[in-house]
Amino acid sequence: MNVDRLLAEEQSAVESALRSLLPVTRVWPERLHQAMAHAVFAGGKRVRPVLARLTHRASGGDADAITNAACGLELIHTYSLVHDDLPALDNDVLRRGRATVHVAFDEATAILVGDALLTEGLLFLARYPEGALWSDRRVEAVEMVAEAISARGMVGGQMEDLEATGLSEGSRMTQEERLDLIHRHKTGCLLRASVELGAILAGVDGATRHRFTVFGENLGLAFQVADDVLDATASADDLGKSPGKDSAAGKLTYVTLYGLDTARRRLDELESKLIDEASEIEGADGELAAIASYVCRRRS
Ligand code: IPE
Ligand code: IPE
Ligand code: MG
Ligand code: MG
Ligand code: MG
Repeated sequence: MNVDRLLAEEQSAVESALRSLLPVTRVWPERLHQAMAHAVFAGGKRVRPVLARLTHRASGGDADAITNAACGLELIHTYSLVHDDLPALDNDVLRRGRATVHVAFDEATAILVGDALLTEGLLFLARYPEGALWSDRRVEAVEMVAEAISARGMVGGQMEDLEATGLSEGSRMTQEERLDLIHRHKTGCLLRASVELGAILAGVDGATRHRFTVFGENLGLAFQVADDVLDATASADDLGKSPGKDSAAGKLTYVTLYGLDTARRRLDELESKLIDEASEIEGADGELAAIASYVCRRRS
């Protein structure tokens, strides 16, 4: 399995769907659409929609049939990045290799870009795949994703991340428990939902769905552990964002709590586990195992 080729092909399918679906920047309100495009068309890895396509294919479906719906995940993810970078949250100036939206435009526009991308993303999920044949699965999918990014999911994780910043001790739980809670929510919920989206739209049975859920949860955790490691080790050129921010800001991360070596060991453990889980779903040497290894070993 050549994962670079797989990723490139998958990313290009997502990229062209996004280009054809998102309103062009000449449409009213121009400034908002320009700022949305600034955030979206800036070389994101497109991991979430790619995951939905791969799990749909692993469930026997045609990935191209669900690409438009999967693009909704990318818009929702991009909203979360635009808001995450705001001065009141992580206060970052670089994202996807360019100035963050509040720097390139202004803070109020960045807030509205987030509002608009979130709404547009849910609209894609409610609308695609088109046709009455898909309507039950669409309803299930949109509810599942909305729950995953709610206050009990991604946004809750962001809140806990903020509350944990700069604190040496949590009041209700240990720092280890708190870190796990943050990662499984702020990043894990949307990654898990991306894995589940492909499976739901393929109409898999309950037992198969459960295997995807477990795989998605572990993949989401691994994704954020890798993000923590990259913050401490990668260059701005590779990352397209400013490295070294987590320790400087007093963030609770795998690296700041356990150190780099332990974080890397945890990633190796998660990779083996994910490969086992993937092979139960798809057999040996499949696309899901390849993407899981990529998530654990990625360099950007
Ligand atoms: C970064 O996400 C934020 C996290 C949730 C860890 P990605 O690493 O997927 O960022 P892009 O989409 O490729 O820019
Ligand atoms: C971001 O986590 C999670 C969400 C955007 C929901 P981080 O704050 O670690 O992401 P980066 O490092 O800024 O991409
Ligand atoms: Mg953050
Ligand atoms: Mg951040
Ligand atoms: Mg980070």
